[in-house]
Amino acid sequence: MCGIVGYVGKRPVEDVLLPGLSRLEYRGYDSAGLAIHEGDSLKVTKTAGRIEALTEQLDGQKSGGSVGIGHTRWATHGAPTTSNAHPHLDCTGDVVVVHNGIIENWAELKKGLEKRGHAFASETDTEVVAHLIEDMGDAPLDETLRRVMQMAEGALALVVIRRSDPDTIVAGRRGSPLVVGRGDGEMFVASDIPAFLEHTRDMIVVDDDRVVSITADGATITDIEGNEVPVVERTIEWDLDAAERGGFESFMLKEIHEQPEAIADTLRGRIDDSGAVKLHELELDDRLLRAIDKVFVIACGTSYHAAMMAKYAIERWTRIPVEIDIASEFRYRDPVVDPRTLVIGISQSGETLDTLAAVRYAAAQGATLIGVTNVVDSALARESDAVLYTRAGPEIGVAATKTFTTQLVAMQLLGLYLAQVRASMDPGAIEYHIRQLNDLPTAVSKVVATSDEIKRMTERWTEVRDFFFLGRSGDFPVAMEGALKLKEIAYVRAEGYAAGEMKHGPIALIEEGVVVIGVATDDHVKTKTLSNMAEMEARGGEIVILQEEGDNGSDFADHVISVPAGPDLICTVTAVVPLQLVAYHVATAKGLDVDKPRNLAKTVTVE
Ligand code: F6R
Repeated sequence: MCGIVGYVGKRPVEDVLLPGLSRLEYRGYDSAGLAIHEGDSLKVTKTAGRIEALTEQLDGQKSGGSVGIGHTRWATHGAPTTSNAHPHLDCTGDVVVVHNGIIENWAELKKGLEKRGHAFASETDTEVVAHLIEDMGDAPLDETLRRVMQMAEGALALVVIRRSDPDTIVAGRRGSPLVVGRGDGEMFVASDIPAFLEHTRDMIVVDDDRVVSITADGATITDIEGNEVPVVERTIEWDLDAAERGGFESFMLKEIHEQPEAIADTLRGRIDDSGAVKLHELELDDRLLRAIDKVFVIACGTSYHAAMMAKYAIERWTRIPVEIDIASEFRYRDPVVDPRTLVIGISQSGETLDTLAAVRYAAAQGATLIGVTNVVDSALARESDAVLYTRAGPEIGVAATKTFTTQLVAMQLLGLYLAQVRASMDPGAIEYHIRQLNDLPTAVSKVVATSDEIKRMTERWTEVRDFFFLGRSGDFPVAMEGALKLKEIAYVRAEGYAAGEMKHGPIALIEEGVVVIGVATDDHVKTKTLSNMAEMEARGGEIVILQEEGDNGSDFADHVISVPAGPDLICTVTAVVPLQLVAYHVATAKGLDVDKPRNLAKTVTVE
């Protein structure tokens, strides 16, 4: 995710672009930049860091221009440095581009452009767009952008200006958000409404596969073939605060709803046409991956629950033994690590000190280290031998939601990749699982849409003092995560437990008034989980069964939640979503601030 804003009108352009970018910082904040038409030239200012750093660099100077574009970045290709910050230029400095999305075939396009003599100044996928437009010569800008969009695969919202067109901004959209705002003799284009809401409430909707040409007087929209399409306007009803959260009550709820898109981004460009996993970015020698005889997966909190799932995936698919460790415990048990050990550190932030300390310890023993993180160039990314980015976009809510489901997906991709390299799994089985992964965005959308049902189910739970979340096998990490979500945002005691272990002690705590949620989606064990849940029901617990659509055997339950049917590990992703919603609705019914739970920090940099 990144934030884009463009303006053409009568105001000093910095006065619109800088506040607009600040309102889009929730979409990314690792580097920022502006490009402005100034006399006969295009002036580009950019820097690593937040919008504040860009504002400081401009130091109050005004260009005198009133047409320009800006960008706030959340890196997916290339570190968050000044040279990778947008806008990006072609070789001549005539074309300037900002982009939100992922161009899957950028490496291929770049190779072709380099052969034709184009010199690149950044490591980004975006820069290919500027050079492709340059390559197409003087054709009208909207036409060249349409041609570029036909060549570029993946998700894009592109906004372009050209020195020879000083009054026009051209933008294109496919798969990434883009809206246009209409003012009085001025026009705006942005990734999201908050960027221009203080200036206008009149918005033009831009659909996918459309190119829009904007001047101060209005907008013309064409489809990808160049046919003009009608301009549809809407009036924005939200206030600024609500608009920043996309109309959701909180960032957490917004991020829960962003999961289908985030998962699609995690998968984007990582599966080839033959149905195989391609993780070229790992750049690890296949011989090394074949020689690995043990795997450790190390993480904290929610990321540790992704590690629990990863153990099942990697062991099942590669038959390599996998140990998982809570990062703060790892070093103190004198683990057996050697050069044939693969260590995978999972950390959303890539800065959690416990995780860093653990993986550094393992690396010092000669292990190969793969970092799985959401933050490009984070400490974990820099210190790892190879990195797999989860590409969830920035997460503002303290409780991890979309960063967790994307970790689950990234770890399944990694597990399948190891199986592919080691030939430990039938290619047909890999392809089958990949098809299921590809279906996840749709399946997760369906589950997210049940939010109101979950709200109704949880309405009477504001006074409940004890919750248990139970599951076996692949359902166990889901249960653990459900309990953690409820603890951290609703401040209520919630235990995540292996369903079969309850009878060895904790069942003594089950009585009337205790809510017990059983996750029963894993085909290998779901009937056993249901038997365990029947034991909870017999002790007076209020019983919730989370099952796959079409399942039966849960008649004894007080409530049933269904998620789309799928193979076991696929269901870890869909099944955790209702539990995120349970925590969310219980916490909001109690009047709590779900985005900033007490005593917690988004990134924990102390041991
Ligand atoms: C829970 C949560 C924390 C983090 C943990 C690790 O919602 O956010 O439990 O998962 O602090 O953080 P990262 O993944 O950044 O290492």
